[in-house]
Amino acid sequence: METNKRTHTCGELRGCDDGKTVVLNGWVHRIREHGGISFINLRDRYGITQVVVDSDSPAELAELAKTLRMEFCIAVKGVVRARPAEMINKDMATGEVELVAKEIEVLSKSEVLPFMLDEFNKDGTPVVANEDLRLKYRYLDLRSQKMQHNIILRSQVAFATREYLTSKGFLEIETPTFIKSTPEGARDYLVPSRVHPGKFYSLPQSPQLYKQLLMVSGFDKYFQIARCYRDEDARGDRQPEFTQIDMELSFTNREEVLETTEGMMGYIFKKTLGVDLPVHFDRIAWEDAFDLYGSDKPDLRFDMKMQDADFMASLSDFGAFKAGAAACGRDVQRHKRTGLKALVVKNVADKYSRKMVEELEAVAKKYKAKGLAWMKVNAQTGLFEGGISKFYAGKEAEICGKLSAEKNDLLLFVSDENWQTACTALGAVRKQLGKDLNLYNPADEFHFAWIIDFPYFAWNEDENHWETEHHMFTLPQKQYWPTLESDPGAVKGDLYDLVLNGYELASGSMRINDPELQQRIFKIVGYSNERAQKAFGFLVEAFKYGAPPHGGIAPGLDRLVMLMCHEESIHEVIAFPKNNLAASPMDECPSFVDEQLIKDLHIAITEREEE
Ligand code: AMO
Repeated sequence: METNKRTHTCGELRGCDDGKTVVLNGWVHRIREHGGISFINLRDRYGITQVVVDSDSPAELAELAKTLRMEFCIAVKGVVRARPAEMINKDMATGEVELVAKEIEVLSKSEVLPFMLDEFNKDGTPVVANEDLRLKYRYLDLRSQKMQHNIILRSQVAFATREYLTSKGFLEIETPTFIKSTPEGARDYLVPSRVHPGKFYSLPQSPQLYKQLLMVSGFDKYFQIARCYRDEDARGDRQPEFTQIDMELSFTNREEVLETTEGMMGYIFKKTLGVDLPVHFDRIAWEDAFDLYGSDKPDLRFDMKMQDADFMASLSDFGAFKAGAAACGRDVQRHKRTGLKALVVKNVADKYSRKMVEELEAVAKKYKAKGLAWMKVNAQTGLFEGGISKFYAGKEAEICGKLSAEKNDLLLFVSDENWQTACTALGAVRKQLGKDLNLYNPADEFHFAWIIDFPYFAWNEDENHWETEHHMFTLPQKQYWPTLESDPGAVKGDLYDLVLNGYELASGSMRINDPELQQRIFKIVGYSNERAQKAFGFLVEAFKYGAPPHGGIAPGLDRLVMLMCHEESIHEVIAFPKNNLAASPMDECPSFVDEQLIKDLHIAITEREEE
């Protein structure tokens, strides 16, 4: 072949290219022989083209074709042939044509892969190899159509983000990844200093302090697609290193931050998926989110709200409901929240066996409920049956009336003296039912909402002190400033979370720019002047020099792309993620290092994992 450089990609050729001589480069996706003809599906990231080695091809070419194996990397020179109308393959974008090979060059051979790419079971579900095997050979796993789609979408989302924010006047500014260790939510990853024995850099859990300093510097609209590092327990939606779309604005207010984020999400979804999002997202107060959905990240793709059932305590002498009805959760005195919550599951009573209800009870117990009480409304008679029905015989009309329950509904209850525990446990059951019964509204594929009015402080039971729900630089809502010290539990923060389909997608807040107010917060959470000075002295110092009012937000890019791809783990949208033990089976990281390197860093290893 004179030149084996591609003239087209494997996703490009169409009927109008009939008769053209072209060169394609790619991988042998599938190969089969039929009546002396070899059919090769040639793949690259743009698509697949069928290459044909005809029976009237030169013998050498036919012989070469027979030596090709899956995943060989090859170049094919050939002539595009339009297929007759009845032979068009509608499942392939290039299905109108095939490429009749004239020359083939093997660019690189491949051993048999450790797992098949793009293999499907008979029912159409994908065959998924073991996660560690996939991660060990990630470079091969990434060749699969699913991973190519996910990684390409991620790139498009990042590009759309930059386009949108730049068009709104934001500047992309990098902040350091070697920083001073400051107390944040998770543990820091540390980097020992060779030059300064005994000292460490830490990897940022987020660029929080730096973006606030950039506001002091006058860069009033900042963003960065920022890597963040947190040493915390693994979960499907968590990675030790992950990426945030980090943003901060000066001379702003909550409205502007929320609207900018809504506009950005709208732009990203339209540009990359062609999906129209609502211009504004619903706003739900933190307390209502717990009270109605049992979560501060509710899945709103289905309605099924929890209801108050405290009226039931006086209808019988069922003991377990008394405690809940008299509940005094975190804010119950102020807001009259009850710890006796009910969920009415429509039209499933005949489908739910005792065993299935027990499975739901296990979910409730995982979230600290003492149990899950239940009864059914008989589909024919409308009478209560099963579970706790004997306590409520004859009360059907009143209970069903108040809870809007009907024949064949399943009623579930959690009662707890703590309102938040009752809500959280029944909320977990709600979430599970959404999945089990596929209650999601197909017309509501991406349901965003803002959760606002979070409590500012949370009481740390173990250590007996107040701590901040978000971070210490968040502004308390102004009406609570006079009573910060006297009634910390009542204070609400000027902070907000963006939730999507049951996940926390972003967090942000208005920030404190008054050093005095900042000192008061440090004090309430038990930071002495000295400790605050040591940890955040540079920020406090900076705020003495005309710090503008500012606020911001940080959507997690990995979670965003995960949800856009309908994946359940962020591993599926990160090119080279760590496994659930924060390790990479491919390059075997973390790894032991040369003793000399350790010595140079003035470090002594006191404990070693077995080799
Ligand atoms: P926060 O800690 O809530 O806020 O993080 C913001 C968003 O980052 C994503 N995220 C993660 N994604 C993957 N793996 C993780 N381990 C992980 N941790 C967090 C989530 C989350 O909503 N500096 C503040 C933001 C601000 O106030 O501007 C911050 O980092 O999507």
